[in-house]
Amino acid sequence: MTKTTLNATGINPQVLLSRAHEVILPSPNGHTPPPVPTPNGGLRVGVDLGTAYTVLVVLDERGTPLAGEYRFTQIVRDGLVVDYLGAVDLLREMRSSVERRLGRKLTHAASGYPPGVPLAEVRGTANVVEAAGMHCPHLVAEPTAANNVLGIQDGVIVDIGGGTTGIAVLQDGQVVHTADEATGGTHMSLVIAGGADISFEAAEAQKQDPAEQTRLFPIIRPVMEKMGTIVNKHIQGFEAQSITLVGGTSLFPDIDTVIQEVTGLPTRVAPHPLFVTPVGIAMHDQAV
Ligand SMILES: Nc1ncnc2c1ncn2[C@@H]1O[C@H](COP(=O)(O)OP(=O)(O)OP(=O)(O)O)[C@@H](O)[C@H]1O
Ligand SMILES: [Mg+2]
Repeated sequence: MTKTTLNATGINPQVLLSRAHEVILPSPNGHTPPPVPTPNGGLRVGVDLGTAYTVLVVLDERGTPLAGEYRFTQIVRDGLVVDYLGAVDLLREMRSSVERRLGRKLTHAASGYPPGVPLAEVRGTANVVEAAGMHCPHLVAEPTAANNVLGIQDGVIVDIGGGTTGIAVLQDGQVVHTADEATGGTHMSLVIAGGADISFEAAEAQKQDPAEQTRLFPIIRPVMEKMGTIVNKHIQGFEAQSITLVGGTSLFPDIDTVIQEVTGLPTRVAPHPLFVTPVGIAMHDQAV
């Protein structure tokens, strides 16, 4: 069993993530959340520059999500910012849009980095946030951020994003081992695109279409098995008892079953897995 305690906010992870899902735009069903009353207190802001999505999320000082945005982007590869100007422009736009919704300026934000990226390169992410007009003194490792939300005491968090599969082993609530390897949702889309001779964008859309996912499952199953093998390799020597999946790729139905088959460990998908790491990054920001 995954042992959990209260997370950094004291708010139940399910409640916290459902709230994030409601206020971060665009919502999958096109619904617009009600306008937010302008908050008075301090704000905590998080920026997650990912391989596939850039997410900006704002919490109140207690940690309740107030507003946010996510955009499909290709500005980061292997934890490195490969399109600096594009990233800055995009983040500026996202910042303005969230500021309009909140009626408040965003002057600071925390940012995250994948485990294993050299510190000099990690600063590249902070530089993007600074160039987009937000002071960025706090950087947090992504698995630590995810566990700010989930509050797992003993277990393994596996973050399956666009570009990579990240692993964090937790013991007594602390991250004791991390790893990050290049296999993620992008690789699934490449397999779909190659097999059907369609564009990457068309493959991405099919992969996320619930009407197509049953047909695609056997085609991309080997990629999921590879992710399971990566997890197995990195949890050797630890007494791992269970796995919690986060990251957008864990939204693909039954990926948890494949990871469970390969690792032999009980595996579950976190609620609203796309937003776990971004919300946890925001929790790391100081409320100002
Ligand atoms: N409903 C869905 N079904 C399947 N895959 C999905 C779904 N929604 C998003 N994805 C996939 O999730 C991935 C993005 O997840 P996430 O935002 O966690 O990654 P990232 O942080 O940008 O990447 P990384 O952590 O590797 O830098 C993309 O590959 C996207 O296709
Ligand atoms: Mg990510």
